[in-house]
Amino acid sequence: MKIAILSKGSLNYTTKRLKKVALERGHEVEVINYAKCYMTMERGKPVVYYKGEALPRFDAIIPRIAQSYTKYGTAVVRQFEMQGTFTTASSIAINRSRDKLRSYQILARQDVGIPKTVFARETANLEEVVDLAGGAPVIIKVARGTHGNGVVLAETKKAAKAVMQAFYVEGVNFIVQEFVEESAGTDIRALIVGGRVVASIQRQSLDDDFRSNTHQGGVGSIVKLTEEEEKTAVKAAKAMNLPICGVDMMRSKDGPKVLEVNSSASIKTPELVTKRDVATKIIEYIERNAKARPRKDKVGA
Ligand SMILES: Nc1ncnc2c1ncn2[C@@H]1O[C@H](COP(=O)(O)OP(=O)(O)O)[C@@H](O)[C@H]1O
Ligand SMILES: [Mg+2]
Repeated sequence: MKIAILSKGSLNYTTKRLKKVALERGHEVEVINYAKCYMTMERGKPVVYYKGEALPRFDAIIPRIAQSYTKYGTAVVRQFEMQGTFTTASSIAINRSRDKLRSYQILARQDVGIPKTVFARETANLEEVVDLAGGAPVIIKVARGTHGNGVVLAETKKAAKAVMQAFYVEGVNFIVQEFVEESAGTDIRALIVGGRVVASIQRQSLDDDFRSNTHQGGVGSIVKLTEEEEKTAVKAAKAMNLPICGVDMMRSKDGPKVLEVNSSASIKTPELVTKRDVATKIIEYIERNAKARPRKDKVGA
């Protein structure tokens, strides 16, 4: 098959691993910097250009779109979709996953456990917003943050109000969320391929930070998921229509609570920590599914 990996970093661990495995399995692989793609649209002819040439038709694309390039990146993915190319993550699903508010709405509807979340405008009574989220301490997060940037722990109602006011002044969209205190500083990432958990790790912040993102200095270790956690991860992936993704969860006294579903999850820490071969699972998934007609997105939100 002809496979394109849409990635800005050809030296990135995940990109390199996917390329290597795909080549070993006899596929033709190209790493394409989607940020440098350009497109033409005319009747019945969607074309993607790259480095001065029209790209050939690929059998499958693997989008690895950076958060800061979501808009342009998903437009490129959509152009491939318009050509009928199979993608491991649809443009619509990537876009959806990048908006925390939208994601929580969808997850909650599908009965997936999430921390209680509040969304309001500045006209709201800020004290009531904090109370609705379970009272201080609360978590306040920017709707489009990533890597733990834009997630604040407000210890008191006063602090929460001040943070919210600051965000309102700057016109930043944010949500207020119940603080899952029981496992602060720790979360679980379950990597899903083809709707199944293929590797799971626990991330622990090194210092006393409440955020466990590896980008914030969190370290990964092997973790065995409970049946409920495994079910929750699978359900979250399905709800977001992302057959390949990373589901972040926290262990709470009321069971697993999903924090986010990542459409371009890195396989680096999960592979290195668990020694599982996730890259092969992804390429095998493409081999099994690329020939079928793309399925319609039925999330409806
Ligand atoms: N409601 C919460 N309660 C406790 N800790 C949280 C909560 N939400 C997020 N965190 C911590 O902050 C980290 C980043 O939050 P997350 O929602 O995943 O945003 P990002 O997209 O920036 O990674 C999580 O990995 C977790 O450790
Ligand atoms: Mg996260």
